[in-house]
Amino acid sequence: QTKQVYSIASIPADGIGPEVVEAAIVVLKAIAKKRGTFQLEFTNFDWSSDRYKKTGSYVPKGHLDTLRQFDAILFGAVGAPDVPDHISLWGLRLAICQPLQQYANVRRTRVLPGTNSPLANCKPGQLDWVIVRENSEGEYAGHGGRSHTGYDHEVATEISIFTRTGVRRIARFAFQLAQSRPRRKLTYVTKSNAQRNGMVMWDEVINEVAQDFPDVELDHMLVDAMTVRMVLHPESLDTIVATNLHADILSDLAAALAGSIGIAPTANLDPSRKNPSMFEPIHGSAFDITGKGIANPVATFWTASEMLEWLGEKEAADQLMAAVEAVCVDGVKTRDLGGSANTKEVTDAVVAKIMQC
Ligand code: NAI
Ligand code: MG
Repeated sequence: QTKQVYSIASIPADGIGPEVVEAAIVVLKAIAKKRGTFQLEFTNFDWSSDRYKKTGSYVPKGHLDTLRQFDAILFGAVGAPDVPDHISLWGLRLAICQPLQQYANVRRTRVLPGTNSPLANCKPGQLDWVIVRENSEGEYAGHGGRSHTGYDHEVATEISIFTRTGVRRIARFAFQLAQSRPRRKLTYVTKSNAQRNGMVMWDEVINEVAQDFPDVELDHMLVDAMTVRMVLHPESLDTIVATNLHADILSDLAAALAGSIGIAPTANLDPSRKNPSMFEPIHGSAFDITGKGIANPVATFWTASEMLEWLGEKEAADQLMAAVEAVCVDGVKTRDLGGSANTKEVTDAVVAKIMQC
């Protein structure tokens, strides 16, 4: 019997990125060893703000062809105190996601057992969402410009691009995901009262696609009202789909409501599987805690579990999350979750659980 071998490109990048990616690789190797049916081969890339400061570029020439040789990409975080954030984000993360057509950004949120939501009455099970973020166009299409820079009459535009094809494919993806979950419930979020072009097209396309999914219960929220519903009635939501900007904001809120940005995972998927997909924690490079060894690695463990599932290793993915949850229940948690453990202690505890179960 030959073992399945998956090749993974790891791009830890900046800040706490290297700390949490290193921890995730330890945990991933443990799960592969425990199961014995597949193998993971990691190739590390030093694409980062340090590289940018030395060479003027985050990535070398041909970076997309390089990445296309891998089955998946494990990403840390990008952003440095001495590089403007729009340079770092466009230089690395968006330079991968957008050309590789990773158009579905999937963000799961749950209150993990053994942890607490800041919402007084929200217990594990009452907040269990998956947010689907359009990841290739919309408000982050990079369309626009600045003229008369620095003068009083300076003008700047930031134009949202919504295409029927782009909205249709993310809608279809979101309906399929909603259909695969027990509650079969999809909430779509727009702002079609104030924004009367692109957002109205979103509403129309979603409702067209809905015809193909009669078993999915669909409802609509305006994005401002959605923030209220997420806080006051978290149990009323299941799968959520929204634009690039709206879902970016809502998913940070979701992570905080579930207990910490330090647990929240992201999958940047190319559902056509023509390109490798990229997996990363939601959080950024967290300068305030970089180098202290206290970053919560759970977001990257959950991210790693999402990666295993995408690669077809669902049992390993579930086993990894079960180990993470068991460690939370044991109280081995970092400070952001109210514990006192450091990154290594959480990592060691998860590895030990994997080896036990
Ligand atoms: P951030 O997510 O880096 O940090 C926000 C707060 O959450 C900080 O107090 C931080 O210590 C805490 N935090 C984040 N991750 C944590 C973890 N794993 N464990 C414990 N605490 C954690 O967001 P911020 O401060 O807005 O951005 C810092 C830099 O990261 C900026 O350069 C920004 O552009 C970049 N960034 C990059 C992202 C990416 O690579 N996808 C996403 C978000 C921000
Ligand atoms: Mg964000």
